[in-house]
Amino acid sequence: MELIECLEKRCSVRDFTKEDVPDDILMGALWAANLAPSAGNQQSRDFIIVRDADIRYHLAKAAHDQHFLSEAPVLIVCCANMDRIIMYGSRGRELYCLQDVAAAIENMLLYVTCKGYGSCWVGAMDEKRVAKILLLPPHVRPVAIIAIGRARRSCSKPPRVEIERLVHWEKW
Ligand SMILES: Cc1cc2nc3c(=O)[nH]c(=O)nc-3n(C[C@H](O)[C@H](O)[C@H](O)COP(=O)(O)O)c2cc1C
Repeated sequence: MELIECLEKRCSVRDFTKEDVPDDILMGALWAANLAPSAGNQQSRDFIIVRDADIRYHLAKAAHDQHFLSEAPVLIVCCANMDRIIMYGSRGRELYCLQDVAAAIENMLLYVTCKGYGSCWVGAMDEKRVAKILLLPPHVRPVAIIAIGRARRSCSKPPRVEIERLVHWEKW
């Protein structure tokens, strides 16, 4: 599938079949994530792949009971690594590491879409609970949980704001 087609096709999937996602697809998604830009190329991001049903259940609970997370065959918890962004001080901790993670996530979503899988970016969570479940060290902040699997049915994107309303030329 061409990249443009993947861009158009990607939409949030919240209903997955039980089919597993093979390791080569997951590693491909992480390869794509790793190609994303990052502040000063510090790559202040880490990824935790979760297949274990019990951990998925607890993550779904920690994500304010977003039950579909426990039904997706694979979750990738995308984290900001504060130790790796230290050279940029508070701007690194508060902004750059989150941007590093976000850029990686979008690459990952596009990759899995291109390979015929569905995904959903989940940001709503109790970070402390997630950190506890995954035994995250203090310098690692969970930013998003990405659910990946085969979509049970086709999804469609909700409407977008007209581009003319978002774009400002030269000045606001
Ligand atoms: C930062 C962020 C946080 C999100 N958090 C959630 C979430 O907690 N639960 C959920 O079901 N979808 C979540 N989404 C997915 C959005 O709801 C979705 O991307 C948006 O409605 C546009 O739909 P589309 O992805 O199908 O284009 C999140 C997306 C982003 C970028």
